[in-house]
Amino acid sequence: MSVHKTTAKRVTTHVLQAMKERGEKISMLTAYDYSMASVIDDAGIDVILVGDSASNVMAGHETTLPITLDQMIYHASSVVRAVNRSLVVVDLPFGAYQSNSKKALASTIRIMKESGAHAVKLEGGKEIQGSVRRILSAGVPVMGHLGLTPQSIYKFGTYTVRAKEEEEAERLVNDAQLLESLGCFAIVLEKIPAELGKRVAETLHIPIIGIGAGKYVDGQVLVSHDLLGISKEFQPRFLRRYLNLYDDIKGAVSRYIEDVKSNDFPNEKEQY
Ligand code: KIV
Repeated sequence: MSVHKTTAKRVTTHVLQAMKERGEKISMLTAYDYSMASVIDDAGIDVILVGDSASNVMAGHETTLPITLDQMIYHASSVVRAVNRSLVVVDLPFGAYQSNSKKALASTIRIMKESGAHAVKLEGGKEIQGSVRRILSAGVPVMGHLGLTPQSIYKFGTYTVRAKEEEEAERLVNDAQLLESLGCFAIVLEKIPAELGKRVAETLHIPIIGIGAGKYVDGQVLVSHDLLGISKEFQPRFLRRYLNLYDDIKGAVSRYIEDVKSNDFPNEKEQY
């Protein structure tokens, strides 16, 4: 017998595939904690990514490399407790899958068992095919990630647009086709030319989710802190900010400080 938390119709990998087939765009955002995940899920997002960008936006590291598997499981389990509807995908962090496929599966099993998430995401193509195959053989859905792959930042040297040259573009298309043939349910394409995003989305049958990959792919993902304007300095061309929460929160905190200092807070009605 299965026990369901709510009656909300859950988004599954099959739902995402059907969305691609009928041309309905897929929405995806990151979340790393219970409160943010509750709001995002309630708003109707299709996919929540517990991204290793938590290393940047939650922990303040310069890159995604330092975050550990234990820390990803902590973030993922907080998110899963909040979610009623969205598909929850968790990034396998740097070091949890690159060395060999057995380690990749062991890391994945910990994520699935300890957080209750629904799928994992791995960065890379041909070079990680053994890990992708082994994780899939255990029945865990895998999302790929090609183009700018932040875990390889020290190989690239910069966060600039990837696959502008023909050779790298061809390699990316081949990697995307390989990931699809292995059985990945979707692929994230990060910071590549829009025309290349279009080509991959049209060639492949599985959903292609872009971040800085143009408008012709099957869905979009952003880091929620960027969309909400909590992070201030990060201003890539592909980012659309919907709020300026940094300024709003700072303003609210300044008012609170003033009220405490002036003994305006708490007032008569705010005490027992
Ligand atoms: O970690 C992350 O937030 C990501 C997205 C940028 C796709 O991988």
